[in-house]
Formats: sequence, C-alpha cells, structure tokens
Amino acid sequence: MKNVKWVALLLVVLFMFSVAASGCAPKTQSSEKVIKIGFIGPLTGDVKTFGTSTQNAFLLAIKEHNNTVAGYTIQTVIGDDANTATQATAVATKLITQDKVSAIVGSVTSSCTIPISVVCEQYKVPFVTPTATNPKVTMDPDRKTYAFRACFIDPFQGTVGATFAVNNLKAKTAAALYDQGNDYSVGLKDFFSQSFTKLGGQMLDTEAYTKNDTDFSAQLTKIAALKPDVLYLPDYYQKVSLIGKQARDKGIKAVFMGGDGWDSSDLDWATMDGGYFSNHYSADDPSPQVQSWVKDYQTAYGSKPDALGTLAYDATNLVLGGITNAASTDPTKIRDAIQNLKDFQTVTGKISFGADGNPIKSAVILKIDGKNKKSTFAASIKP
Ligand code: PHE
Repeated sequence: MKNVKWVALLLVVLFMFSVAASGCAPKTQSSEKVIKIGFIGPLTGDVKTFGTSTQNAFLLAIKEHNNTVAGYTIQTVIGDDANTATQATAVATKLITQDKVSAIVGSVTSSCTIPISVVCEQYKVPFVTPTATNPKVTMDPDRKTYAFRACFIDPFQGTVGATFAVNNLKAKTAAALYDQGNDYSVGLKDFFSQSFTKLGGQMLDTEAYTKNDTDFSAQLTKIAALKPDVLYLPDYYQKVSLIGKQARDKGIKAVFMGGDGWDSSDLDWATMDGGYFSNHYSADDPSPQVQSWVKDYQTAYGSKPDALGTLAYDATNLVLGGITNAASTDPTKIRDAIQNLKDFQTVTGKISFGADGNPIKSAVILKIDGKNKKSTFAASIKP
C-alpha cells in the first residue's frame, strides 16, 4: 500500500514536470534548425519613413522565402536606431551579443551605419546596408571585411548630380548648404562640389548648419545675394523641406537639387516642386524585375515602394543568398559567401561585390512634381 502511494506521487510529479517543460519549450520543434537574422533601421526619430519602408521590405523578402533558408527556420530580430549613432551602436551590440544573430540587414543612414560597421567588424558578423552611401561604411581607411552594401556610393552620387546640373540643366553656378555633423551630408556636398567644378561650373558658396538648426536665414541671405543657378541640398527630406521653404521666402530662384535623402512621401512637395534628386531606382522603370517587385510591394502594403524599400529587399536577398551558399549559421562563413556572390540578380540590377564591398550600379535622376506629390523619372546615369 505504501509503495502504491509513492508510485502515484512519483507519477504526479513526473506529469507536472512534463507539463511545465512543454510550456517553456519554444514554439518550433526541437529538431528544427533556426537561424537568426537581424534588421536595424530608424523606426523612430527624424527619418522614420526610411525605417518603415525598409522594415516592410525586409519582412516581405523573408516571407517570400517562406521563412526558411538553407534548411533553417528564420527568426527575425528587429532593432531601432532612431537615426542616432549611439543608439545604433547599442542596438547592433545587443543583436550580436544577446540575440546571437548570424547576419544583419541595415542600417539606413550613413551616420548610423558607420558605427554599426565598427561593431560588426569587432564581433565578426556580416551586415548588408541597403542604403548607406558614405564610403566610410565599408572602408575607413582599410576594408571593413564584414561590411557590404546594396547601393552605390556618394562619390558616384555626387558626380551624377553635378553631371546632370551641367549637362542637362546647363547650370553654370551653384551653392550648397549642408549638415556639418552628418557624414552623408558632408560627403555628398564635397563630391558634388568637386565634380561640378571639374565639369567647368563654379561653386559660389558652401554654407553649413547643425542637425538641430531650424533657422537658416543667415546662410540663405548670403546665398540669395549670389543668385546661383542651382542650390544643392544634400540632406534628408525633413531638413531639405524646411530649408527649401525658407530659401523661397528669401527670394532664391535657384533649382533645388539633392541626393537620395529626399526620397520620402513626407517631402514638402509644393516647396520642392521642380527640384531634382539622384536616387537608386524609379518605380516607373519598365524592367520586369522592377515591375513585379512594385506589384508585390503594393499588394502587401498598399503603396509603391520607395528606393529605400527596394534596396532593403535587395539587401535581404543578398543576405539570404549568402546563407544559402554558406549552408551554415556561422557568421564568417556567411560573410565569405556574400563576398563571393557573382552577378546576383536583385531588383536594382545584378550585384557582384568588389574587394571594397560596394556594388557598381547606375543611378537615376528624379524630378519633383509638386502638384501631383510625386517624383518622375528624368534621366538614368551609368557609372
Ligand atoms: N544614402 C543615405 C545615407 O547614406 C540614406 C538614404 C538612402 C536615404 C536612400 C534615402 C534614400 O545616409
């Protein structure tokens, strides 16, 4: 009798233990192999439309892969850098050391991606930034071996803008206004100015501001007096909208020009009307790759993808392509496989990485149509 009681008690304990254990078990079956892929973007802060479209596209690319790659079930880990360098460093460190991601897609802006590149190099985890165009993301001054990007770089982007200004707009003079604390803005200002001068144009003035400035009257008063043909504004959509408005109020008639940072549905379309900016792709491109992507994104999210979303889709597929070839969760094996991808087909073209981790790609120039609140294709410029 005593024995029976003990056996019964033992059975109850065993049963309770098994219930508790199954309650704690992850949803995936124990035999299932998992790979963690991180995403970092500005989901809050001054450029949050950039974060939204890149995250949308990242998740869509993973979904189209049926959440699996090389026999692993994909677990995504999302990080927000709020477009500040300190938060970017913190979130990259967390994704790598706590979540143990095998690779990262991100981030969006150069000022965040440059610090992320340092963290990734330290922990030897590869990342592909969809959109950070400053040269220092992959080289500073030596090659950061875990760094890759799906976009062209700013020396090319600045040249493209200057070439269009001289050849298409017949501009003879220009001025630039830039954020002196933003790597992207500083770089693009330099590259545009160098090319514009080399092509025979004259840079009449270059004025600086800082990220928190909201009043640009001192700089714009100087520029207004010089009457440049072009005013180059290499910053993100919020800032250029603000500057554009104040420039017109000062009577500046120059054509506004800028770079990919203008690409947002939240641009002040009326103010920026008639302006031109260099970008990575046009949704009007008739190529089958672009048109089927635009349709897929529109079905999923109800709007056309901007360049950021498109490049995030490409960057995610580059990471998935690397994992497929590596057939491993080991970050260094994935790094090697990404470096070795050849003519990898993406929406924005075929990608092979040079020794510097940068693809060589064409750019487009888009014109702002203020009335219809959209940008239209103006030119395509090859490297
Ligand atoms: N190129 C920008 C940077 O490096 C980011 C960006 C890309 C913004 C594409 C908009 C569109 O900071």
